Amino acid sequence: MKIIPSYPLAALQFLLLVLLLGFPLPSSASEMRLDEQSLRCINCHENSIQGGLVCHKGGCDHLIGEDYAEQAARNRTLTPPSSLNPALKLINGRVGCLTCHIPFDKKSHLDIAAKRFEIYKATGTDPMLAVDNNGSGLCMACHRK
Ligand code: HEC
Ligand code: HEC
Ligand code: HEC
Repeated sequence: MKIIPSYPLAALQFLLLVLLLGFPLPSSASEMRLDEQSLRCINCHENSIQGGLVCHKGGCDHLIGEDYAEQAARNRTLTPPSSLNPALKLINGRVGCLTCHIPFDKKSHLDIAAKRFEIYKATGTDPMLAVDNNGSGLCMACHRK
């Protein structure tokens, strides 16, 4: 009978430990699919995604981190990728925070956030969205019905 030497196993365990500690893994599969900008958003806006869904004040209710073309191929009520409003940016073809929101800018983020409702009252447009959502315009840019 051959006895398996314990050294290679210990070495493997050590390597795994280094990998785990050295490269902290995202906590869920959907976070793993998220682009860097979205990860940056959720760094500050904690708990804004759960189980592949983006969470807003009203709850966790929208898909994020998935390939848009794949979704549109399955669901014909979605606008085909080639006809999407270019203001809705897909990141590597996927839906991220930046698909619906303006990019994060260190200098202006808090300022725009603080004045968000003031700007909304004055212009009728939410300054933190990529596409105006009056009459559900943002939603309808992807959902054709
Ligand atoms: C460095 C931290 C930080 C990053 C990164 C960040 N935010 Fe924010 N954001 C804040 C803070 C702080 C506020 C103001 C307090 C609040 O409303 O949570 C805010 C406010 C907002 C608001 C307005 C909230 C409201 O209640 O009116 C939106 C929308 C928003 N952020 C979206 C985003 C998105 C989308 C991203 C990524 C593109 C992002 N933020 C990245 C810190 C951050
Ligand atoms: C499918 C479009 C869509 C995506 C994707 C999306 N948002 Fe939003 N978000 C909205 C809309 C629309 C609003 C405005 C809701 C309102 O105030 O009525 C909003 C509002 C917000 C607010 C203001 C407070 C709140 O909860 O309503 C924050 C903060 C925010 N989003 C952060 C994020 C972050 C962070 C991500 C990515 C993890 C993200 N959003 C992804 C559409 C989106
Ligand atoms: C960038 C395109 C995009 C935008 C903008 C967008 N969605 Fe979606 N939405 C999707 C995709 C992709 C799915 C997943 C497709 C599916 O479930 O078949 C989805 C799914 C949904 C669902 C689940 C039910 C369904 O139709 O499958 C609801 C509800 C929904 N979205 C509402 C909204 C609302 C409300 C807004 C505006 C705040 C919005 N969406 C903006 C792409 C988008």
